[in-house]
Amino acid sequence: MIDAMSHPTPYAARRARVAAQLGPDAIALIPTAPARPRNRDSDHPYRHDSYFYYLTGFTEPDAWLVLTGDGRSTLFCPPKDLEREIWDGIRLGPEAAPAALGVDEAYSVHELNARLPGLLENRRSLWFPFAIHEGLSARVDGWLQQVRARVRYGALCPGEQHDLCRVLDELRLIKDAGELATMRRAGQISAAAHVRAMQRSAAMLRAGQDVREYHLEAELLHEFRQHGAQSPAYPSIVAAGANACVLHYRAGDAAIRAGELVLIDAGCELDGYASDITRTFPADGRFAGPQRALYELVLASQQAAIAATRPGARFTDPHEAAVRVLTQGMLDLGLIDKGQHGTLEDAIAHRAYFAHYMHRTGHWLGMDVHDCGSYVEPGEVGQPSPRRDPLSGELIQDRPSRILRPGMVLTIEPGLYVRPSEKVPSAFWNIGIRIEDNAVVTADGCELLSRGVPVEPDAIEALMRP
Ligand code: GLY
Ligand code: MN
Ligand code: MN
Repeated sequence: MIDAMSHPTPYAARRARVAAQLGPDAIALIPTAPARPRNRDSDHPYRHDSYFYYLTGFTEPDAWLVLTGDGRSTLFCPPKDLEREIWDGIRLGPEAAPAALGVDEAYSVHELNARLPGLLENRRSLWFPFAIHEGLSARVDGWLQQVRARVRYGALCPGEQHDLCRVLDELRLIKDAGELATMRRAGQISAAAHVRAMQRSAAMLRAGQDVREYHLEAELLHEFRQHGAQSPAYPSIVAAGANACVLHYRAGDAAIRAGELVLIDAGCELDGYASDITRTFPADGRFAGPQRALYELVLASQQAAIAATRPGARFTDPHEAAVRVLTQGMLDLGLIDKGQHGTLEDAIAHRAYFAHYMHRTGHWLGMDVHDCGSYVEPGEVGQPSPRRDPLSGELIQDRPSRILRPGMVLTIEPGLYVRPSEKVPSAFWNIGIRIEDNAVVTADGCELLSRGVPVEPDAIEALMRP
């Protein structure tokens, strides 16, 4: 059994927790992510698999972790190879891995096929992440065939296979103090990047320069790397004017003009953890009347969602709180037809808000920007109530939403997106607004990790002044 205290990282303790949940006759296989080709002999920047990293802290490609129910851990990793290391960089290598990572044993990844059947033999159950790694179950079958070929010599072949994600997702959903410290720092870096982009926009427009979305994206990247973040956690959205109404817009080369709003949805990844912040600001630093009216509505809806983010609440509570405020505001501002939907309850029941607010108010955040973790309360999965979605006709299995607990991290990101339409006042056409913060559930509410960049319109205008 690993002594978690003998290794000063969280990884050994996590491996021990997983092993304890699998049971004594179990074995688990966790590969990291493959390198992915971009074109010809250039790869995309390498990003490890989040499950693998959670259990090892190891970021090299071509590596596997094998955990057994007795708590032993075996790493397979790239062997030392001077020729390859001259080209691709230093490798840890299996000789150094036990001391560096706290695993019990380590071998060259070239020994994986030879050693796996022996490791699988005589285990009762086998765990690996289902539907994550292409081709993994075929490889597992190949190793199991070799075990089965030995049953006439008394070998036992695992008779059960289980999805390891079920165990790891629950562990990853509750962040520990070290993870929260990293996420707090990621939030600070990303917030500073948003401030920098806002200030650059106003400064360039004051100087009469041609401002493009990519200029602001460059500011974000500068600030991320300047503070040691390895990369953006997802492709940055920098959307000028009407582009903000395209939910998955990327930073392009569109001109940013005085009088328009800019929506930036960007966050860095720091040491494997994501941040995910959206701010919407006037390109030249001054909100016009209709822009401010919609902005204040989105902000009020976000405040309602934040107030609803506390332990014991359901994951859907912040969304429902935001929808109530947004829908009432849309009725008041003429974005929803009062003649058709007389009351707030009627407008919500018919999802009249959906034309201008078509996404959810949040998602789990962690190593992955849309992090793992069930959105259904585990003890209540057996009580679905099927219904037809009134707009799409899709059959929805409503199950009781997850109960929020301290240490869960989620985004709170309401928005409003108004496309040109006869049905809405033209003063609001082409305005897209989202305000997104990152919240950790605490003992009595939530802590926002991303408020190093303000949300109040006056505070945004102040930081954009010379
Ligand atoms: N940036 C991705 C999201 O907000 O969900
Ligand atoms: Mn986002
Ligand atoms: Mn988000």
